[in-house]
Amino acid sequence: MATHAYFATHIYRGALPASAAALNRQLARECHQLRLDDAAGRRWSAHNYPGGYTSYGSAHRLHQLSPTFAALARHVDAHVRRFARVLRFDLTGRPLALTDCWVNIMGPGTTHGLHLHPLATLSGTYYVRVPRGAPGPKFEDPRLGLFMAAPPRARRAPRAQRAWVSLPVRAGQLLLFESWLRHEVPPHGRAAERISVSFNYGWF
Ligand code: NI
Repeated sequence: MATHAYFATHIYRGALPASAAALNRQLARECHQLRLDDAAGRRWSAHNYPGGYTSYGSAHRLHQLSPTFAALARHVDAHVRRFARVLRFDLTGRPLALTDCWVNIMGPGTTHGLHLHPLATLSGTYYVRVPRGAPGPKFEDPRLGLFMAAPPRARRAPRAQRAWVSLPVRAGQLLLFESWLRHEVPPHGRAAERISVSFNYGWF
């Protein structure tokens, strides 16, 4: 007998090269500066992102505004092309294009509840600063709503067969996933802030 795994869900992990350390430091500076400058974003975050700051509602095309974010986008573009090959996307005639790029600064206790990224094809996050021991994003099996009478998974089931998986991340790394894949960012209890830059890529 044999069983086979079909319909796999892929999550891509990559990292910027060690030579990008200066870029990472400049990104951290610009993320902090943006929070100072972006009053609209701070108001938006007070309602939608308690304890944290995100430019999602106010400045979400940073790759068009800042050479630093444009440099990050060139790195991410290369990873997105690799991921698209892994996914066997046929992109004939239309490239995947970066549409949105925004900053997230999460203080202790800030959470980002379960969500997906509508109107996008691939999404991802680059991690600028990650407090030691902070939990990584948590992804949900996209078939969960179809399980009906399926029993729960064994506690020690392999990670690839669990209904949820948390992926620890470090500064300098990035994760990419298909935009329909639901995920959340659990709170961290550290005094330091978690800083990340998120992306949407479209195919249109
Ligand atoms: Ni997200």
